Amino acid sequence: MGFCAHCLTVHKPWLLVSQCTLLTFEKGTCLTGFNHTHRHTRTHTVQRSPVSWLRGISWRSNQNVTHNSSLYKKPFAESFEETPLLVAVLTYMGYGILTIFGYLRDFLRHWSIEKCHVAREKEEQKDFVPLYQDFENFYTRNLYMRIRDNWNRPICSVPGAKMDLVERVSHDYNWTFEHTGKVVKDVINMGSYNYLGFAENTGACADAAIEATEKYGVGVGSTRCEIGNLDIHEELEQLVARFLGVESSMAFGMGFATNSMNIPALTGKGCLILSDELNHASLVLGARLSGSTIRVFKHNNMQSLEKLLRDAIAHGQPRTHRPWKKILIVVEGIYSMEGSIVRLPEVVALKKRYKAYLYLDEAHSIGALGPNGRGVVDYFGLDPKDVDIMMGTFTKSFGAAGGYIGGKQLIDYLRRHSHSALYATSMSPPVAQQIITSMRIIMGEDGTTLGVDRIRQLSENTTYFRRELREMGFIIYGNDDSPVVPMMLYMPAKIGAFGREMLKRNIGTVVVGFPATPIIESRARFCISAAHTREMLDTVSHPVISPITVRNTK
Ligand SMILES: Cc1ncc(COP(=O)(O)O)c(C=O)c1O
Repeated sequence: MGFCAHCLTVHKPWLLVSQCTLLTFEKGTCLTGFNHTHRHTRTHTVQRSPVSWLRGISWRSNQNVTHNSSLYKKPFAESFEETPLLVAVLTYMGYGILTIFGYLRDFLRHWSIEKCHVAREKEEQKDFVPLYQDFENFYTRNLYMRIRDNWNRPICSVPGAKMDLVERVSHDYNWTFEHTGKVVKDVINMGSYNYLGFAENTGACADAAIEATEKYGVGVGSTRCEIGNLDIHEELEQLVARFLGVESSMAFGMGFATNSMNIPALTGKGCLILSDELNHASLVLGARLSGSTIRVFKHNNMQSLEKLLRDAIAHGQPRTHRPWKKILIVVEGIYSMEGSIVRLPEVVALKKRYKAYLYLDEAHSIGALGPNGRGVVDYFGLDPKDVDIMMGTFTKSFGAAGGYIGGKQLIDYLRRHSHSALYATSMSPPVAQQIITSMRIIMGEDGTTLGVDRIRQLSENTTYFRRELREMGFIIYGNDDSPVVPMMLYMPAKIGAFGREMLKRNIGTVVVGFPATPIIESRARFCISAAHTREMLDTVSHPVISPITVRNTK
């Protein structure tokens, strides 16, 4: 470890040695108020070595990435600033103090000095093994409860660029909430995954969904393979396949189940899944349910992935050393907590080299990335055929619900083997219609330029907002092109304070802390939308307290 004169942060020694040649520094004002902060941006150097061109060297912080620039058609700029030492110490101290107070309050609760709101085992069940472990709830009881008002806020409008919130209050320190009967109007929505602004209750998509409801109703009442297969579902699947540029596709009623129920249909015992450490819970659950062996590689770190691939080929299965039946690499397009974009060209090169399969979850990237909105494959200008299993959801950019799998040959197999296809009721018709209409708009098949305009607007908004925050000195994570913008808060007290202060200024944000992030990396996460106007983005980056517009609903 060594001390960096630029940022007063402790770095690993090789970083200090290499920083002058490989990293550029920009000075700014530190959010935390200490000394200063800077941004470490990757510069691209071309490595000539035949072996090393595949290796992107990346680590959690201050990433120094060297890769073959011929794999990338444009600069791939991502930054993850290492938590400054002082901030890390103060953050740990903050959690330490909260934990000490937690124990103290548990002691007071135990002796009934403080009222205890948590569920307790009944006296007559004393001899049973407890159904829930008291200590497991320690974090919820003593830390989360203090700031719980920042989550699960009820929304009573379309979750568009602006939204209305049901006003609620708590009289018992966030244990319970009461609705006041009032509505907080026109809160700028920086939390919904409404990337292209299709979460609307007016316009072409809403009109088409209303027509579909009039024609089909809302429920389907059966699975696809029984009598829940509507013409609108088949139309949707053909459209999705065309949109993705693959042979065929299958649509499912839920994005989460698309992952968790299809991965077990594709892999099983004797197969190996190589999973990015930050993969979504639905991918992790699917991998676990499959019964495959799971090995986890460092986030977006090609060196770590290649090492696992090489070991898998060299050693085969444990004990028997038989070759793995199948190796499946599982990655996401955009990682929704980090705002990072998968290094797809390098993953594809590795997968080809080691003859593995690739499962790509485009939940956040489909619609939101690429000149045609066709996701991360489009963004990197790759061939969709290079990805074996293209998965995505309709919940984000399409303003609907459900998920899809696209690919070659495998769809027929999935129709017969996926639990999600066989045992789940098929997608609601107005939802299917919303997806069809929004996808056609994105593809320009409605005869307008509305789709490309929205894609361009999202990209401009992303660049603008990221630049604004950076210029103000905030530490933000992720790729410059990612509409998911995590802004670091670090300290536990800031999580609650930031969410509440933003709401006072009529801005709805998502704040995230441990255990969803590493303990010293709490953050606010902004999701940019094409529906955000420049004025809204300026209000968010330079918020002022205004009297909140509250309307009485009674
Ligand atoms: C990467 C990823 N995959 C799958 C899902 C699950 O999708 P859905 O919310 O549509 O069920 C999510 C949800 O946010 C996600 O982020």
